[in-house]
Amino acid sequence: MLGKNFTIIGGSGGMGRVFGKYFKQHGFDITLFARDEKKLKIVAKDLGVKFELDLKKSVENADIVMVSVPIHSTSKMIKKITPLMKKNSLIFDITSLKQEVYKILSDGHKNYPINCLSIHPMFGPGIKNMKNYVILLLKIGGTEQYDEIINELIDIFRSDGFIVAETTPNTHDSRIALTLGVPHMLNILFLNLLKRTKEPLNELTRFTGTTFLLQKVLAESIIQSEMEMFGEIQIENAEFHEILDIFEDLIKEYKNTIKNKDLKGFTKLFSEALEYSKEDNHFKNSYEYFYEFMKILKEKK
Ligand SMILES: NC(=O)c1ccc[n+]([C@@H]2O[C@H](COP(=O)([O-])OP(=O)(O)OC[C@H]3O[C@@H](n4cnc5c(N)ncnc54)[C@H](OP(=O)(O)O)[C@@H]3O)[C@@H](O)[C@H]2O)c1
Repeated sequence: MLGKNFTIIGGSGGMGRVFGKYFKQHGFDITLFARDEKKLKIVAKDLGVKFELDLKKSVENADIVMVSVPIHSTSKMIKKITPLMKKNSLIFDITSLKQEVYKILSDGHKNYPINCLSIHPMFGPGIKNMKNYVILLLKIGGTEQYDEIINELIDIFRSDGFIVAETTPNTHDSRIALTLGVPHMLNILFLNLLKRTKEPLNELTRFTGTTFLLQKVLAESIIQSEMEMFGEIQIENAEFHEILDIFEDLIKEYKNTIKNKDLKGFTKLFSEALEYSKEDNHFKNSYEYFYEFMKILKEKK
């Protein structure tokens, strides 16, 4: 059975705060750990939970430890924590890349009598309602009570409407390269492309009807997120490097098509994209959704 002592490493961060509040609401006794005391105290007070500045003290009595530190620190942190944890406790990380962390957690449960899991919440700190948000989950292994313990955690997530989807480290990282890395990249490039024309965004907005407005708002919301994390999601993921090569070829092909005034080539690229997207479940209603978003944007001006 899942115990109640729940420690969040990186508890003062954006995701630490979200999950601190979430698991407190589910009746867990939360302790937050981070290095900057001032920030940690503010978040702990805000959430009405405990905090601890000593790593060992924060984890040695915990039944559950959630690791919510930046991508580059996650594996190192797990290596430090696993020897300190008590028998049958559960450790899970929430980091955005899984191949390395999966190996470290696999070693963790082989070397110590603990339970290891890895999850990736597919949302950011701005989440309000959990319904239909996805949590990707990688089962790793542990003690005889492993299934019972992690199923209890999964049941908690599902009880709030989260969709929990199991995956493997390779599938996770190659798909995340496409579902996070690619849209982040395209939106960073979109804003940089406009900047290089030296046209102010407010001026361009005066000349827009629909598509540009929606695209601009999407890019502006992305560009206000965690820069370091976005960089790591692309730089540290080998799968994303391969996508960059495909992208480079595609841009070259596109450039040639346009510069050579090759309407046939353009039609081919356009039709292929259309055929590909027709298979998607959102396709049929996407034009309608687009105008739903527009309604919000036009009303807010
Ligand atoms: N933000 C998202 O949209 C999102 C979505 C899904 C998954 N994630 C994953 O969630 C994790 C946390 O992301 P976040 O956005 O919450 O980051 P964040 O806001 O930067 O918070 C990081 C937290 O970790 C602490 N920390 C940083 N380095 C540390 C270290 N070496 N040792 C101990 N504590 C350290 C920070 O406090 P101190 O610096 O004071 O120690 C802070 O409490 C990342 O692995 C990320 O990939 C994020």
